[in-house]
Amino acid sequence: MEKIFEGIYRFTAGGDNAYLIKGETNVLIDGVREEYAEEYISAVAKTAPFSDIKYIVINHSEPNRSGTLRAVLRENPDITVIASTAGLKFLSDLIDGGFHSMLAKDGMEMEINGGKMKFTYVPYMNWPDSMVTLYKNALFTCDLFDGESEFSEKYIDAAVEEIKKLDYKHILPGSGDFFGEHGPTAVFSVKNKRDTALILYSSVYGTTREMAEIVEKSLGGIKTEMYDIADIDEITAAEKINKCRALILGVNTINGDAPKKLWSIIGRTDKQSNKGKPCMMFGSRGWGGEGLYYIEHHLKMLRYGVYKKPFAASLRLKDADRAALKKFAAEFAEHIG
Ligand SMILES: Cc1cc2nc3c(=O)[nH]c(=O)nc-3n(C[C@H](O)[C@H](O)[C@H](O)COP(=O)(O)O)c2cc1C
Repeated sequence: MEKIFEGIYRFTAGGDNAYLIKGETNVLIDGVREEYAEEYISAVAKTAPFSDIKYIVINHSEPNRSGTLRAVLRENPDITVIASTAGLKFLSDLIDGGFHSMLAKDGMEMEINGGKMKFTYVPYMNWPDSMVTLYKNALFTCDLFDGESEFSEKYIDAAVEEIKKLDYKHILPGSGDFFGEHGPTAVFSVKNKRDTALILYSSVYGTTREMAEIVEKSLGGIKTEMYDIADIDEITAAEKINKCRALILGVNTINGDAPKKLWSIIGRTDKQSNKGKPCMMFGSRGWGGEGLYYIEHHLKMLRYGVYKKPFAASLRLKDADRAALKKFAAEFAEHIG
């Protein structure tokens, strides 16, 4: 293991970092993938005998962090595993047989080697179990600030607010190098202003496009961006959905379904970012209008805040459709405020 600070060692394999706190009490922090277990065990043993290790903290139980835990417990079954409420539950599903455990409650502190160890929950960085561990002036952040993981902004914002309250000097992430005092400033400013209603539509013969144009003009002062899905790539469209304030979706029906590209865009969106996001839907159909209703059903399953029943028009718009759609859009605008 490589000594990175006084009393703190790091082991890296497969792009993941595991740490060892060495002192009167030795504590392992996280682990790496199971395939590196032999390497990891031998590196730790050279730095601190397993019989002298008291705790292992698992900040997040994904296999790239917990994969070596079984090997650790084989070396010394008396080591106590410290994890969050969800973490202990997941670990009990990942590890056969029992193990000594200590529940790290959110905000819990304990004294280690004359300093403070404190656990702070940062849910969904990357799983519901995630927490960060402060030890003296070092913050072990696991997936957060690892430069690789992508999180929903909603949860990043919450995690960053929690982390700002902690008194640390160094960030030791689960992948990549450690940051000095100002390293994560860029991540702190990740916030995105969500002020745009995104209008996305699919249209072959122009009716759903006409509907989209009517909707755009009927939303009052709300800032909008509008795209035909034919003119935007799937990844960009999905990112725009993740970041918009409200989603307004026009769906035509061709051969009993919505266009595959629309399914693919929705499949690329982030579920957490869009939970509860206001979503208004409309579309032109010939008969069943299945595309519109399948997408509606899917968005509901993904927990979007789908607004009322989608507005469906049959083939070309009539004046009555135009007036009703205008009203529907204006009410939606009022709904999102
Ligand atoms: C090839 C083709 C297949 C279609 N299949 C369906 C269908 O399965 N169900 C339906 O309700 N309408 C179907 N329609 C009708 C379209 O939904 C209808 O023409 C609608 O107005 C198209 O909207 P757009 O002008 O925005 O593309 C189909 C149209 C075409 C051209």
